[in-house]
Amino acid sequence: MKGRQKISVIGAGSVGGSIVQRLVERNCYEVVLVDIVEGLPQGKALDLVQAGAVCGYEARIRGSNAYSETAGSDVIVVVSGFPRKPGMSRDELLEANTKIVHSVIGEVAPSSPEAILLIVTNPLDVMTYVAYRTSGFPRQRVIGMAGVLDTARFRTFIAQELLVSVQNVHAMVLGGHGDFMVPLVRYTTVAGRPLREWIEEDRITALVQRTRDAGAEILHLLKTGSAYFAPSAAICEMIDAIMADHQKIVPCSMFCDGEYGFKNVCIGLPVKLGTHGIEAVVPLDLTADERDALERSANAVQALCRQVDRLLAIQSRY
Ligand code: LAC
Repeated sequence: MKGRQKISVIGAGSVGGSIVQRLVERNCYEVVLVDIVEGLPQGKALDLVQAGAVCGYEARIRGSNAYSETAGSDVIVVVSGFPRKPGMSRDELLEANTKIVHSVIGEVAPSSPEAILLIVTNPLDVMTYVAYRTSGFPRQRVIGMAGVLDTARFRTFIAQELLVSVQNVHAMVLGGHGDFMVPLVRYTTVAGRPLREWIEEDRITALVQRTRDAGAEILHLLKTGSAYFAPSAAICEMIDAIMADHQKIVPCSMFCDGEYGFKNVCIGLPVKLGTHGIEAVVPLDLTADERDALERSANAVQALCRQVDRLLAIQSRY
C-alpha cells in the first residue's frame, strides 16, 4: 500500500500555516511547508508537531527553506505572494505576484512532474494562468482555489439571513475571484427549494454584493492581512476530494479551451474533482443574463492574462 500522500505547501504565512494545520490534523498526509523566510516554516512545523501530542495526531510535517524538499509531491499548494492591503484590489498585485508564482513553479514543478498544482495566490485566476503557462502541466492538474471559498461565503450569508443551517444551503459561484464573480442565484437552493422562493429579490441582490465584497470586508477588519480560515478550509476540501477521489462537483478556476465558450483564460467553472485533478467540466444551462455576467467576469481576467503573456515573454529573455 502506498504510504501517506505527500502534500507541499509553498508559503508559510497565515494562509499556508492554517492549511498545514488542517492537513496534519487529518492525520493521513505527509506535509512539507516551504518558505524563503529562514526559520518560519521550521518554526510552524515544530509547533504543529508538538500540538499533535495534545490533539492525538501523529504529525508528519517538515518545514524547510529548500524547494528540493517538495520533490515527489502528489499535490503542491502555492500560497506565496504579497497579500492585499486594505483599499487594494486583487489585480494590483499582478506584476509582483506573477514573478513570485512564475519562479516558485519553476522551482517545484520539474521535481514533481505528476503533481496537481493548487493555486491560492491573488489575483487568483491570473496566477492560475501563470502556473499553467510556467509548469507546462496538463490543465487538468493546474487548479485555482476561489469558487469553493466564494460559495462558502454566499452560503453563509444566506444561512444567516434565513436562520437555517448552512448545511441546508446549496449554491455555486462561478467566474473570476474578483468584483465580477457570478453567484448563480437560479441554481441556489435551501433544503431543495429555490432561493427566490425564500428571499425577496432586493435582499438577494444585497447578499450577492456582500459575497463579492467578502474578502475586502475581512481585509478591512483585520487591517494587517487578508482572510485565512475560510480560504484554508476551502483548499483542504479540494485536497480531500482529489486525494480520496470524491468526484466532487465544485467551482474551481481552470484554463479554458472552449468550455463555456472561453479560451486562453482561467476562470471559475463547475468541475468534478478526483484523483486526476479536474476530471470533467460540468455543463450548466445559463440564461442570457447569467452568460453576460460570466463573460464580463472572464473579460476582466482576459485583459490581465494578456498582461501576463507580456510579462512572461520579458522574463524568458533573461
Ligand atoms: C479573499 C482573498 C484571499 O477573498 O482573496 O479573502
